[in-house]
Amino acid sequence: MSTMNAPVIIAVDGPAASGKGTLARKLAAHLDYAYLDTGSLYRAVGLQVFRAGGDPENEQDALKAAEKLPDIDLSDPELKSESTGGLASKVAAIPSVRACLLDFQRNFARNPPGAKAGAILDGRDIGTVVCPDATLKLFIIADVETRAKRRVLEQYGTGASDLEFQAILDDLIQRDSRDTNRASSPLKAAKNAHLLDTTNSDIEAVFEQALALFSNRMAKA
Ligand code: C5P
Repeated sequence: MSTMNAPVIIAVDGPAASGKGTLARKLAAHLDYAYLDTGSLYRAVGLQVFRAGGDPENEQDALKAAEKLPDIDLSDPELKSESTGGLASKVAAIPSVRACLLDFQRNFARNPPGAKAGAILDGRDIGTVVCPDATLKLFIIADVETRAKRRVLEQYGTGASDLEFQAILDDLIQRDSRDTNRASSPLKAAKNAHLLDTTNSDIEAVFEQALALFSNRMAKA
């Protein structure tokens, strides 16, 4: 439970392309809270390993890149590609890499930049590991075909071929499996997380649901 001085923390977890990033950004803008896309940290580490010619599944290579995180450009457009997502999920399975990124994430949550009154973090393990005391925990899901369609639209617009769709679908299935089955901080809903399914809902409807849950939670705090 948050005290008068502690920032409010909202944890938004879920699989790739579930809509969690869009929802988290929209909530942060609406509430004027700080926002951290924790996936971008793992993506930055994965891409750094790749560019340095290393192996993302090798602990030494991945840890070396994770330690460089403060110097890595988090606005690089290549961070958003599905192949970088694959690299990210490989480095993310290495416990020492996760430990290296943990302090940064917790510090962001406890001291939101800009002295904001709250922080919203999206990822895979925010509600379970990074911020287990978060004020509100949301777990966003959608079926994998729907998520693949969203990713294809983002990356290719409306003109994608069946082959391109299949490649993205295969990547997402592999990434879900790696994220869910890894031993260290796997993707899973915290016991007290609210499950929101975005398969058949547009972002506005999900946003309204999340906002209602938040108001309800704050009224009880
Ligand atoms: O959310 P996004 O798709 O950008 O995340 C990329 C990858 O980073 C995920 O597939 C996952 O392996 C890893 N990740 C993680 N823990 C987080 C955020 C992302 O393991 N909190």
